[in-house]
Order: sequence, then structure tokens, then C-alpha cells
Amino acid sequence: MRKIGVLTSGGDAPGMNAAIRAITKAALHYGIETVGIKDGFQGLLNGKFIRMKYTDVDNIIQRGGTILGSARCQAFKDVNERKKGIKFVKEEGIEGLVVIGGDGTFMGAHVFAKEVGIPLVGLPATIDNDLYGTQSTIGYDTALNTIVSAIDNIRDTASSHKRIFFIEVMGRDTGFLALNSAIASGAESVLIPEIDTDLTLLAEKIKTQNKGRRSSIIIVAEGDDEGGAIDIKRKITPLLKDYELRTTVLGHIQRGGAPSFFDRSLATRSGVMAVELLMKGKTEIMVGYDGVNLVTVPLQEAIQNEVSPNLDNESILKKLLTLG
Ligand code: F6P
Repeated sequence: MRKIGVLTSGGDAPGMNAAIRAITKAALHYGIETVGIKDGFQGLLNGKFIRMKYTDVDNIIQRGGTILGSARCQAFKDVNERKKGIKFVKEEGIEGLVVIGGDGTFMGAHVFAKEVGIPLVGLPATIDNDLYGTQSTIGYDTALNTIVSAIDNIRDTASSHKRIFFIEVMGRDTGFLALNSAIASGAESVLIPEIDTDLTLLAEKIKTQNKGRRSSIIIVAEGDDEGGAIDIKRKITPLLKDYELRTTVLGHIQRGGAPSFFDRSLATRSGVMAVELLMKGKTEIMVGYDGVNLVTVPLQEAIQNEVSPNLDNESILKKLLTLG
């Protein structure tokens, strides 16, 4: 293998740069050139390639976002557009691809791998952690730390004013960020898409919990069936007339910022492994993390299985968080 390509796609995630750095440096170590593909699949379709030098990836391990740029590319769903991408890949002499992103990215990558006919390895990177086959996607740990630190700040002001806060966190389809930030911040309640919430019951529980307390924090996953924090506050206001309610939508603050130790380490180790897998000719696989070691998972499995945070054996925690 003489040349590989790397791209970041979908929502950016802290640690993507650490992965790009590791891939470039590992490839150079093995005498392989790396081509950076700009703006995800969009750059693949337009042939926007840059030859990566050692110095291009210096001092990026600590930076959030992605130096290659990212995009959600609808055109990639069109087979004729993808044919243009294949032409650019062949002309450039790219012999292997590392695709960094989430489930949407991997769906596109899976189709493309079959069409382009060169080895392709995926690195799971999304703050949502909603990918099968890995305990932690690149960016998830950093986003959790950002969220917990924001909730701590809100707790200070909430307790000063005796207020109830509904805080919305990201996670379009899953409640990983909501549930785990709620556990780590000592939130009083959490609403996640995986579990139906009865708002009347929630209001009663908030009243009970709030007795003798100066604040209550309720975390709302953006994808919750009852709506985001603003909707929940609107719906529950008539049931909590004697309380001062506020909302905060954390938004894209959760996606930026310097990656945590964990994400830098995970991204770096996964990036090196991706290069070594390409060298062995492995394809259509993802580098996952089983909680102890890096593992490989077929892309097909990663995209066809759904994941959700599991609290089945933690009934006390469920009670504490008034889940359901
Ligand atoms: O990348 C995942 C994610 O941050 C989701 O949690 C969120 O729903 C979505 O992306 C937001 O996407 P965009 O930045 O395109 O609005």
C-alpha cells in the first residue's frame, strides 16, 4: 500500500483531529502517503484532496473540530455522484480509505467500499455514542465532560434562586448523553427517547423531590418523544404553578472544545490500528472499543444494530432519576 485517504464526515466530534494525526503519522512510519479529503464525502465527490505532511498534523491532538472539515452530504446517496468520487480516488492513486464519523457516515461508507473496491476502515466518532460495536465513540467522553461542567454551573445559579431547570442535551435518537450526564451531575430527573415519560407523574415527583431543596435539575434528551426542554417546560408549567422554571439548551457547545484524555487516547490508538488493518487488506470494518481493548466489528453489523443505554439492572438509579 502506497497511499491512503482519510476523511471526517457527519457531525464533528472532539478527537477527530487526534485520529487524523495518528493516521497520518502511523502511515508515514510505514512509508505510506496520506491524502486528506476535505469536507467529508463532499470532498470525495469533488476531488478536494490535500497531501498530508508530518507538519500538517503537528499540534492538533488538543484541538476540537476537524482540520479536514466535515459535512452531511446528501449527494453521496446518488450512485452517479459516487461514480465521480471513485474516478477521483483512482486518479489520485488512493489504495485504502479511513472514514471517521457516525452511523450515517458508515452507511455511505459501506456502499462506497463495495463500489470502489479498495480496503475501507471506519473509526466511530460522534458525541452521541449511538453506534453498535463500541462502548465509546470518539468525542462522547469529551461531550459528557462539557455537559457535566455546564450543569454544575447551572446548579449554582439554580440553587441561588430556588429554581427548577430543564436542560436540553444533544442525542437525536438516543439518551446516552442525557442519561450519563444526569448520573454524573446528580440531576434529579432525566427524560430520554428510550423510556416514555408521564409528565403528570414527573410533575408530582419534582414537587416531592423539591421539598426542602433549593433547586432541581431535569435533563432532557433533544430526541425525547415529549419534545425538547422548551416543549417540556411549556407542557409542565400548568402543573408546577408555584415554582420558578427555566430552560437551557446546551446546543453546539457540546460538540466543540479540546478532547479529553480518554478521547485523545482512543482516537490515537484507533487511528494507528486503522492504518495497520488497511495494510493487511482488511475492509468494511470498524475499529471499536470493548471497554478494555480495541476490537474490529464488521461495518454491516455496526450499521444494522440499534443501541440504547441500558439501566435494566440499576433500579435504584432509575428511581433516583425518576425515569419513566
Ligand atoms: O453529531 C450528532 C449531533 O450532534 C446530534 O446530537 C444532533 O442532533 C445533531 O448532530 C445536530 O446536527 P447539526 O449540527 O447538523 O445541526
